[in-house]
Amino acid sequence: MNDPRPPRLLGKVVVVTGAARGQGAAEARALTREGARVIATDVTETPDIRVLDVTDEGQWALLAAELRESYGQLHGLVNNAGVTWRARLDEVRPDDFARVHAVNVTGPLLGIQHLAPLMPAGASIVNVGSSAALTAHYPVAYTASKWALRGLSKAAALELGPRGIRVNTIHPGFIETEMTATASPAFRESNLRETPLGRTGTVDEITPLVTFLLSDEASFITGTDIPVDGGYTTHGGAKSISDALRADPGP
Ligand code: NAI
Repeated sequence: MNDPRPPRLLGKVVVVTGAARGQGAAEARALTREGARVIATDVTETPDIRVLDVTDEGQWALLAAELRESYGQLHGLVNNAGVTWRARLDEVRPDDFARVHAVNVTGPLLGIQHLAPLMPAGASIVNVGSSAALTAHYPVAYTASKWALRGLSKAAALELGPRGIRVNTIHPGFIETEMTATASPAFRESNLRETPLGRTGTVDEITPLVTFLLSDEASFITGTDIPVDGGYTTHGGAKSISDALRADPGP
């Protein structure tokens, strides 16, 4: 049977970074299903992927020129590419700190600088943060980079608002991808303990929010931080208190 809903992104041209796998690949598929013309990019050469290293300003400039030539306009950018680095405070090296910052913060900055000039009023930018951007998280380079991305998003929302361009940040919790597949079992278990919904999330639970934020349905929403995390960041550490008292209500 045909889906009776009209596609929500029909006629929109959207760039997704880090789209070779994981959340980015799922976003590219979902946005295409909603009628968008998606330019799926990644640093890794993969079939159907346009190569783009988000840290390389020349590559962004080239992409912008190609988009201008082919489409004239761009309606959406999903700054999804990101890397983690799990060194703790006493171990992290300045070059690793800088490398993570380059991908997770400078990449989105360059994307916005080079592609926003192609955007008409009504365009939308979605930055992919993390629950690490809303909490104290132990991988210090990753956490610092994702908090910085929030700052960039807020500044960009302020700057681009007068042109009718929206900028929002989504904050995934523990999502099953190759990134989290390399995390230790203890990381997984303690995440589950701190998540009110008591489970990890899937890439298909991220894509509806990205679709919504790119669509005209979100036309008055900008500068926001939206968690998609099963409640992980909502309780400020109080879940362990609630769980402990349920197990042992005391006097
Ligand atoms: P992933 O590791 O499966 O995919 C990341 C993609 O980004 C890969 O295809 C990789 O090749 C690409 N990439 C890395 N460096 C790049 C560069 N310099 N230029 C272009 N592409 C590059 O990770 P996943 O889970 O899909 O993550 C997507 C985003 O979600 C990232 O920003 C990540 O920090 C964020 N996130 C992920 C969470 C999770 O639990 N999986 C939780 C919170 C945030």
